[in-house]
Amino acid sequence: MRGSVKAEITPMFKQYFKVKHQYPDAVLFFRLGDFYEMFFEDAETVAPLLGLVLTKREAGKGLTAPMCGVPVEKALFYIQKLVDLGFKVAICEQVEDPATSKGLVKREVVKIYTPGLMVDLELPEKSKTYLASLYLDKKAGLAFLELSCGEFIFTEVNRETFLSELLKREPREILCLEEFAESEWISLIKGSLPKVHLSFLDKRAFGLTQVEDLLKLPYYERYQEGLKAANAILVYLQNYQPHLLDKIEAPVFYYPEEFLFLDEATKRNLELVKNLWDGSEKYSLFWVLDATVTPMGARLLKEWIIYPLRDINQIKLRQEAVSFLVEKPDLRDALREVLKKLPDLERLSTKCSLRLINPKEMALLRDSLKYLPEIKEIFSEIDQLPRLLRDILSQLGEFTGLYQRLCEVLVENPPYTLKDGGIIKRGIDPTLDELRDLKDHAVDYLSAIERKEREKTGIPNLRIGYNRVFGYYFEVSKGNVRLVPPYFERKQTLTNVERFVTPELKELEQKIITAEEKIKNLEYELFLGLREEVAQYKEDLKRTSLGLATLDVLVSLAKVAVENDYVCPEITEEEGLYIEEGRHPVIEKIQGKERFIPNSVELKKDEAVLLVITGPNMGGKSTYLRQTALIVIMAQMGSFVPAKYARLGVFDKVFTRIGAGDELARGKSTFMVEMSECAYILKNATSKSLVVLDEVGRGTSTYDGMSIAWAIAENLYEKKVFTLLATHYFELTELGKIYTGIKNYHVAVKEWQDDIIFMYKVLPGAANKSHGIEVAKLAGIPQEVVDRAKEILYKLERKNLKEPSETKIASKRVTQLSIFDREHPVLQKIRNLNIEEITPVEALNFLWEIKKELK
Ligand SMILES: Nc1ncnc2c1ncn2[C@@H]1O[C@H](COP(=O)(O)OP(=O)(O)O)[C@@H](O)[C@H]1O
Ligand SMILES: [Mg+2]
Repeated sequence: MRGSVKAEITPMFKQYFKVKHQYPDAVLFFRLGDFYEMFFEDAETVAPLLGLVLTKREAGKGLTAPMCGVPVEKALFYIQKLVDLGFKVAICEQVEDPATSKGLVKREVVKIYTPGLMVDLELPEKSKTYLASLYLDKKAGLAFLELSCGEFIFTEVNRETFLSELLKREPREILCLEEFAESEWISLIKGSLPKVHLSFLDKRAFGLTQVEDLLKLPYYERYQEGLKAANAILVYLQNYQPHLLDKIEAPVFYYPEEFLFLDEATKRNLELVKNLWDGSEKYSLFWVLDATVTPMGARLLKEWIIYPLRDINQIKLRQEAVSFLVEKPDLRDALREVLKKLPDLERLSTKCSLRLINPKEMALLRDSLKYLPEIKEIFSEIDQLPRLLRDILSQLGEFTGLYQRLCEVLVENPPYTLKDGGIIKRGIDPTLDELRDLKDHAVDYLSAIERKEREKTGIPNLRIGYNRVFGYYFEVSKGNVRLVPPYFERKQTLTNVERFVTPELKELEQKIITAEEKIKNLEYELFLGLREEVAQYKEDLKRTSLGLATLDVLVSLAKVAVENDYVCPEITEEEGLYIEEGRHPVIEKIQGKERFIPNSVELKKDEAVLLVITGPNMGGKSTYLRQTALIVIMAQMGSFVPAKYARLGVFDKVFTRIGAGDELARGKSTFMVEMSECAYILKNATSKSLVVLDEVGRGTSTYDGMSIAWAIAENLYEKKVFTLLATHYFELTELGKIYTGIKNYHVAVKEWQDDIIFMYKVLPGAANKSHGIEVAKLAGIPQEVVDRAKEILYKLERKNLKEPSETKIASKRVTQLSIFDREHPVLQKIRNLNIEEITPVEALNFLWEIKKELK
């Protein structure tokens, strides 16, 4: 391809190579007329992924280029697919008009789509798609850009917590310094967000130049690391989508300490916004709480869930508003009715300020403005409004002028496209109206001229005709030619007729022919002007859409509270919590409230700081732990909670750790991960934190695990960290006997003959027995195996063996249990299975297969 052949490639392919060379890591969409073409490796990679036909094109002597292409008007669809697959797509346009340019048309890359920069593509409605940036120095600087919502924020955190803060918003793409490409935390990021795209930039991107230009605020000088991260985002934007650079707002600093700290593992384990097995929203806390009716409301609710508050007054403000709405079903319904009619005002107004909005979207924006007064109207009859609702109302703009203007200018149903006309109403621009008249009435104008000339010349059969070569002409029969006046210019002589033109006719012809083109161009210009006008309202629109989103979330929380029978928790200055008859919001929703057994929990300074919960598998321990953490999160969001009564102090952090055996999702060297996560908790938890440890220490041998769990519990207790600890190590119940602030609880089971019945009731005191064997029986383990297990247990207990020697027991097992004499083929399958490499779904399928074979 290079070297000697290069001299002979066509000029167009020379141009292609030059461009491609500048963007080696992107798929190049090379504009050729009405198509974007891809060549060589790009074409070969992409064609099968997009279902395109791979063809060839002559690229010069002895060089044929594999090629595939997509029509320009369908391009976004294909770009979307590629970006979703993790590609970058560079759009190379013809930057001069091929009709007027001489020689090869000039082409340039005008923008590059990346997973983090896809604002004009289809985005998921209910979530944000962040481009994040990370700069590590003494502190960690983080910046996030959500182009479609016009959000640009940055912060600084200590180096230990940066991963949580970075991952919590689930960025699609992360920018970081290229020297970090090999860091160990890169693999952690990939483990947590398998779909994330990492882009490595060199040191110059993490300077301060660009961001200083944008900010001009001395106040921000303290935040060096954060600003450097923000700067990289600006540099990236400048390189990839330069047309947006001057449209975005200065980044805003946020303080993570203002929010209840939830680390990434907690967010995941508690299934706050998506579940653990398929990553969808189903069965997440969001799934329960989401009764919002606008996209911006849904997105804000998600944010409230992952960023609950820490300030007691702010929590109370939200509570007050929710309580108010809980009491007023009619008001709620009325508000929902109006909100339902609203489009995604947040994204529409952002698109407008980024100058990306199309006529169709502009009409949506227009129509939404019409409903805003209705909201104020609904509230007008109520005098004693809670403060938050009052604030929201004052946040909503009026926009009467803007609405009128848009109604005046924009046709009812404009198209998506900007350059095909059909956008602007009559009566807005005289030239436009004239052109349209001309186009619509061309025939009338022509016959008017015809009539006029007939009268003037006295030629009765003078008529206007048209052909491709001469355009419009007057046709006069041979007999009348002598009557033709001098200003008629002869064009053509045929046997019986002669054809003439006049300057007037030529002028009209010119007008008619170009009217169409001119209309489109003029409408385009006028639309751009209108867009500028609307963009002036961006602050107002943004504030309004945030107000509407907040209202939507509050109404949603109230509706859900009523429907699910939640109570308003009492938030106190006192540390700890008391939840009476608490429920798990998700499980009760799935199983039905009647079938869920509520449980109370109390954590109290000095007296009940750490609870050890024991009991058999499937007894309800994890549920109890999780519901407590979820209730804390809900309470600090300002939501009502699933309980009969709840009183809570404000927590600063919530941590949850699920023992390695329970956490299939990540498939890492699990025990190591579990321990490093525990280390993280021990370092970061305070006397105001809630820590939930579920079967910690499970990933290693019994005695190791037990000792580690014991030591961790003790350490947390010494730090006065509120802790719930579920364990199957009964030895840990000893802790309750040693320390006054550690209490034992167990999940109740009833024994009935040889079976057990789960009561799901959490009661004081330690469980007396593991019931593991009964559970095994319930799960369908064959009776002879259950009997054998009982026998072993009995022996173990009697001999009080400290460390059960596997070999001793195994050797006996072979002689006594003929079932294991010949190895069943599934055993080999299980051995061959690499647990680290399979997904939970694959694991389920595998189990399914095995079960089938054993039947
Ligand atoms: N309080 C409860 N009321 C009704 N069902 C429950 C309750 N707690 C748990 N369950 C049911 O039992 C199952 C197992 O509970 P889980 O908390 O995972 O037990 P453990 O952690 O003790 O093994 C849950 O999936 C749920 O269906
Ligand atoms: Mg459990």
